[in-house]
Amino acid sequence: MEKISVVIDGRTFEAEKDTCVLEVARRNGIYIPSLCYNSEVTSSGGSCRVCLVEAHQGGRMRLVTSCNYPVRKGLEVKTDTPLVHRIRRGVLELLLARVPDSEVIREMAAAEGVTEVRFRKDEGENERYKCIACALCVNVCAEVVGVHAIAMVERGADKKPATPYNKPSDVCIGCGACAYACPTGAIELKEKDGVRRIWHKDFKMVRCSVCGTPYIPEAQVDWIVSKTGKDRSFFDKCPDHRF
Ligand code: SF4
Ligand code: FES
Repeated sequence: MEKISVVIDGRTFEAEKDTCVLEVARRNGIYIPSLCYNSEVTSSGGSCRVCLVEAHQGGRMRLVTSCNYPVRKGLEVKTDTPLVHRIRRGVLELLLARVPDSEVIREMAAAEGVTEVRFRKDEGENERYKCIACALCVNVCAEVVGVHAIAMVERGADKKPATPYNKPSDVCIGCGACAYACPTGAIELKEKDGVRRIWHKDFKMVRCSVCGTPYIPEAQVDWIVSKTGKDRSFFDKCPDHRF
C-alpha cells in the first residue's frame, strides 16, 4: 500500500493512502469527536457529522467528515479552528435536541460548551431519545456478525432500526453486537436469571461449567457451530475458564 505524508494540525504524519483522516488522527493521538464510525465496519460513518474538520488542498478549503475522507498527497487537515468548533457546536446542538437522553452526546456537547438547546426536543418513544439513526447497529449485524436481523425503517426524523414488523426476529441470535456498537446506548439489552432480552426476544444463556456465569446465548452458540463446525463443548466454559 502506498504511503503518503499528511499534515494534521501542523504536524506531518505518514499514512497509507486512502486511510480516512479520522483513523490517521486517532493513531497519532489527535482527538476528533466521532459517533457513527466504527473501524470494523466498512459502511459506517458519514451520518452524525460531529467529526467535521477543515481539509485544505490545492488552495481550497472544504469542511469534510473526517471518518470517510481519505488522506491524499498534499492534504492539510485542521481539527481545531474556530470554524470547526462553531460548526461542531451546531451539529451537537441538533443532536442534543434530537436525543436529549444520550449521556454520550450530552458529554460531547458539554465539552464544546453546549448545554442548552434552542430547538424543540423530539417527542417520541423512549428508545428514540437516544437513537441518532446512524445505522451502525444495522451495519454491524450484517457486516460483522453476518446476520441480517435488523434494518433501518421509516424516514426523516422517524428513521430508526427495527426488526421486521417490530416482532421477534427469526434470525437474531441475541449476540448483542448491535447494542455494544451503538454509540449512544440506544439499544436495550437486559439480562436476568440466565436470560438475555433484546429486540423483543428472550435468549437463554449458556452457563459456564466452572463459574456458573451465564455468558453467551444458546442461539449464538448454535449459529457459530453451524457456521464454523466448532465443537459445541468449546462453549461449556466461559473465556475466563477455557485454558
Ligand atoms: S440504535 Fe444506535 S447504532 Fe442503531 S441507529 Fe440508533 S444510534 Fe445508531
Ligand atoms: S463519525 Fe464521522 S460522520 Fe459520524
